[in-house]
Amino acid sequence: MKTATFASMLGFAVVTQAHMIMQNPTPITSNAVKDPLESSGANFPCHGQSLAPSGGAAWSVGSTQNLSFQVNTAVHGGGSCQVSITYETDAEKVKDPANWYVIHSIEGGCPAIAKGNLNSATECGSMGQTECVNSFPFELPKELKNGQATMAWTWSNTIGNREFYMDCAYVDVSGGSDQLGSLPNMYVGNLQDVAGSCTNKEESNVKYPQPGQYRLWL
Ligand SMILES: *[C@@H]1O[C@H](CO)[C@@H](O)[C@H](O)[C@H]1NC(C)=O
Repeated sequence: MKTATFASMLGFAVVTQAHMIMQNPTPITSNAVKDPLESSGANFPCHGQSLAPSGGAAWSVGSTQNLSFQVNTAVHGGGSCQVSITYETDAEKVKDPANWYVIHSIEGGCPAIAKGNLNSATECGSMGQTECVNSFPFELPKELKNGQATMAWTWSNTIGNREFYMDCAYVDVSGGSDQLGSLPNMYVGNLQDVAGSCTNKEESNVKYPQPGQYRLWL
């Protein structure tokens, strides 16, 4: 029996904790959800949504975009996260992390520098502030290829169950030089069928094997 069910049977007030949800760029509807991906990897990527990018945020290379989150308390001690992109739509190809290219790696502090979950849902006023939810400006690198694509925010949380979070959004890239090969591939951990034995330890922020040159250390 799940604890929550048990608690509600006893008439306790059950505090349902949302996890983090990407707010900007605007996720595709099915990806504006709080849950991590299934640990089997079955709904990797993008919660199993079949990808058909159209419209979405206009991503002009060289511009600064803002990765932000719905502000709630469930930051799980923060962690590390990446912004990645794929141009593939084929169901098999999108399941291969080699088809996802990293735009920005944030090691530690994503989405918060915090001991655990927050006491109150507070947005940070500046980078480096603790016990609040960060947002991250990042520049779109010249290596991108033009056209409709799917971006992902992937998050490896520091405290709590060993999970892997992923919210996806459609974007429309312009001004790129099509050198995707010089960007690293997305890190995946804690997803059996995708990452195999690659898991990350609790209470330490993932240090990416291949963060790429566009990187923030908090
Ligand atoms: C990013 O978004 C957050 C949340 O909406 C906002 O508070 C912050 O000012 C934004 N940062 C930039 C650089 O636009």
